[in-house]
Amino acid sequence: MTATPHILMARPTHYEVAYEINPWMKPAAWRDGGRANSLAAQRAWTALRGALETSGAKVHAMAGVAGVPDLVFPANAAVVLNRTALLARFRHPQRQAEAPHNLAALEGLRAAGVLDRVISFNDDIHQEGAGDCIWDATRRLFWVASGPRSSPSSLARIAEVFGEEVVHMPLATDRYYHLDTCFCPLSGGEVLYYPPALSEDALAALHARTRPDQRVIATDEDAEAFCVNAVSIGPDVIMARPPARLAARLSERGYRVISVNLDPFLLSGGGAFCMTLRLDLTSEAALTPDLATPALLTA
Ligand code: ARG
Repeated sequence: MTATPHILMARPTHYEVAYEINPWMKPAAWRDGGRANSLAAQRAWTALRGALETSGAKVHAMAGVAGVPDLVFPANAAVVLNRTALLARFRHPQRQAEAPHNLAALEGLRAAGVLDRVISFNDDIHQEGAGDCIWDATRRLFWVASGPRSSPSSLARIAEVFGEEVVHMPLATDRYYHLDTCFCPLSGGEVLYYPPALSEDALAALHARTRPDQRVIATDEDAEAFCVNAVSIGPDVIMARPPARLAARLSERGYRVISVNLDPFLLSGGGAFCMTLRLDLTSEAALTPDLATPALLTA
């Protein structure tokens, strides 16, 4: 029996695509869709929440807030490990306004006993939470990006706060602006990733720490469908609607691919992982192997 995953989500009550801070964002397409878009976003959010709960997660839902539509992407709120949350410092003014709301939500989780401490970055650093700092439970390290959003100097602070190994993954493009858009460790030890979005240094780091059979390379089509931005829970991989071939490749490895229509959020450059923040990750080695995890069965 593995521990229940705890996941933070933010209700899409005030979600819209109102500005453009990444190449996916289409404010005009959002406006053209009118009220139907808000209803579709509500449906998509509820479907994702349902899928996470069906996979065994407990979802903590924070309220949406008017004027900060991207609050719906709490992956960017903080880096969380061992019950400590390190609050993000956003690059763009449009998202900086989220920080007080994220802080309040994390403080609420501390009061509720889900977290122990909430701490901050120094003022000269940009770092956008788990979007650019991804815990790898198999290798017990953080993969940490610098690029359009997060500063290289965030690595030292992350290492200092958590006392864990950090591996630098410099991003290569503006389109794949967060590490979670192009890189996703899976529960069985594989990594699903999109090579064109990663710099040579990032690819070298990845090759040094993964076996060839652990590398699941996303195609252009997979990455464009926002499927690398997936939530991995035991044997389940929850993602925006995948191309059939990607679903088949993951199924062949023993995963159960759960597809959710997240189109209204793709219009903002966000997918399943962006819409969640894991709150329960720890750096401890599992006492008993997770038998529900496919690759461990064959290791
Ligand atoms: N519109 C948001 C932004 O550009 C999307 C954030 C998606 N989050 C993520 N972790 N990739 O910041």
